[in-house]
Amino acid sequence: MPDHQANLNVELQELIAAMEQRRSKIEAGGGPARQQKQRDAGRLTARERLERLLDPGSFLEFGTFVEHDGTRLMTGVEAPGEGVVTGSGTIHGRQVYVFSQDFTVLGGSLGKRNAQKVVKIMDLAAKVGCPIIGLNDSAGARIQEGVDALSGYGEIFYRNAIYSGSVPQLSAILGPCAGGAVYSPALTDFILMSRGSSYMFITGPEVIKSVTREEVSFDALGGADVHTRKSGVAHLEFEGDEATLEGLRALLAYLPQNARERPPVRPTQDPPGRQNTELLEVVTPDQRRPYAMHRVIESVVDDGVFFEIQPDWARNILCGFAHLGGQVVGIVANNPRVMAGTLNIDASDKAARFIRTCDCYNIPILTLVDVTGFLPGVAQEHAGIIRHGAKMLYAYAEATVPKITLITRKSYGGAYLAMNSQDMGADVVYAWPTAAVAVMGAEGAANIVYRREIAGSDQPEQTRAEKIREYRETFDNPYVAASKGYIDDVIPIEETRARLIATFAMLERKQEQRPYKKHGNIPL
Ligand code: HXC
Repeated sequence: MPDHQANLNVELQELIAAMEQRRSKIEAGGGPARQQKQRDAGRLTARERLERLLDPGSFLEFGTFVEHDGTRLMTGVEAPGEGVVTGSGTIHGRQVYVFSQDFTVLGGSLGKRNAQKVVKIMDLAAKVGCPIIGLNDSAGARIQEGVDALSGYGEIFYRNAIYSGSVPQLSAILGPCAGGAVYSPALTDFILMSRGSSYMFITGPEVIKSVTREEVSFDALGGADVHTRKSGVAHLEFEGDEATLEGLRALLAYLPQNARERPPVRPTQDPPGRQNTELLEVVTPDQRRPYAMHRVIESVVDDGVFFEIQPDWARNILCGFAHLGGQVVGIVANNPRVMAGTLNIDASDKAARFIRTCDCYNIPILTLVDVTGFLPGVAQEHAGIIRHGAKMLYAYAEATVPKITLITRKSYGGAYLAMNSQDMGADVVYAWPTAAVAVMGAEGAANIVYRREIAGSDQPEQTRAEKIREYRETFDNPYVAASKGYIDDVIPIEETRARLIATFAMLERKQEQRPYKKHGNIPL
C-alpha cells in the first residue's frame, strides 16, 4: 500500500474512533452514578426504554450530537445528548417517531436545543403521517435557560395542538414530570403512567410547601393512582416501565397511522356468527337489578378482548377499544353497576373525549345504553353538569364515523339523547327485548302524571301501584319507540355479535359532509 494511502487510512480510523468516543459519551447520558440512581428508583434509562418500546434493531437516532445553547448559567455544564434521545423506529412493523427524555441529564429538563430535537421528529412525523410517542421523564423547563426553555416548550405545545387529530400522539409518564413535561402530554391523545415511579404535577411538593404550606408526598400529589382515579388526567396505569411500554405497543394496535387511514385489521378465528347465548343469563328484565356491562362487551367482541380506557375513573361509563369481525371499534357503554350508570360530570367528560378521539382516527363507535338519566343534585348542577353533559351531545353529533347504538335496557330522558339516539346522529339503533325507552322511570312518571288521582284516591298507595303498572305496560318496552321508527330493530340478544358485525360492514363506506366552518365550538 502506498504511504499516503496508509496515512489516509490511519487518519480515517482516528476520525471514526473520535466519532465513536463522542457517541459513547453521549450514550452514557448523565453517567453511571445517575443511571444507577435511576435503576434504584425502579426505572429504566432513556435508551433502555427505546429498546423495549420499539421492534428490535429498528431505531434510527437523530440529533445525537446536539449540545446545549451555552447560555451564561450553562457555562461548563455538560448535557450529553441534550437530555433527550430522539428518532424513529417501528412498533409491530409500523413506523413511529419517538422522543425519550433522559432524567440523568439535568433532570431531563428541557432547554432550547433539547426542544429543537423533539420538534424535529414531531415535524417529520406529521409530514410522513405517523404516530408521535413521548417517553416523559423530565423536571420541565430548564431553569438555567430561562425564557429560551419556555420558548422550547411553546414550540412543542404548538405542535401538540396543530398535529392533534392529524397523527396519534401518545405519552408515557415514566418519572417525576413537572411543568411543561405534564402540559405537553396533556395536549396528546393518551397518557399512560407507571405506578409508584411516575408523577405528574405542575409544581412539585417542595414548591407547594413553600407557597401553601401544604405537605404532600409525590404519590399523594400526582401519582398514577391520583391521575387514573381522581383527576382523570391519565388514561391508563401499569406496574413499572416495561409494562407501561408494553401498554403503548398494545394501544397503538387500535389506532391508525394518521387521520386519513383506518386502524389495522386484526384477523381472528372468532366466528362472526357466534351466538351470545351466555348473555341470556347476564341480563335480566328487572330494570333495577344491575348486571355486568363488561360481560356484555366481552361476549360480543372478537375473542372477548376489551381494551378499556380510563377503567378506574368515572366508572359509571365504560370507554374502550375492541375488534368486531377484525375491525377496530370504540365502545361507549353505561355501567349499571356504578351509580346505576347515571351520567355525571366526569362520565360526560370521559365519554365526550373518547368519542372525539374515535372520530379523529376513523374508529366506528358502538354505544351500549342502560341509563336512567343525568345524576341529579346540587353539587352536580353547581359544578356545571349542563356544560359538561353538553360535551357528550356535541361529540356524538359531531362524529361522522359509523355509529351504532344498542339499547340493552332502560334509556330515559336526556341521557337517551346523550347516549346517541337516532336524532343525535346514530346511523342504526337496535334494542334488545329487555329495553325500555321513556322520559323517566315508571315510579317517577306515575307520581308526576297521576299526582292528582293518587292524592284524591281512598287508597293512594294502591292507586300509585296501579298507575306505575299501567305506565310500565305502556312505556317500559322498546316497541313504542320502535313503532315510531326511533329504533330500527328489536333484536334477539343471542344474535347481537352477528348483527353488529353485519351492520358495521354495511356502514363501512359511510361518508358524511358537514357545513363549512373553521372549526366547531364544543362547550369546554
Ligand atoms: C434544570 C433541574 C431542574 C430544572 C431538576 N433539575 N429540575 N435542572 N432545570 N427544572 C436537576 C437537579 O438539579 C438535579 O441535578 C437533577 O435534575 C435531578 O433533580 P432532583 O431534584 O435531584 O430529583 P428529584 O428529587 O427526583 O425531584 C424531581 C423534581 C424536582 C420533583 C422534578 O427536581 C423539581 O421539583 N424540579 C423543579 C421542577 C420545576 O419547577 N420545573 C419547572 C417547571 S416550569 P443533579 O446534577 O443533582 O443530577 C415549566 C414551564 C412550562 O416547565 C410551561 C407550563 C405551562
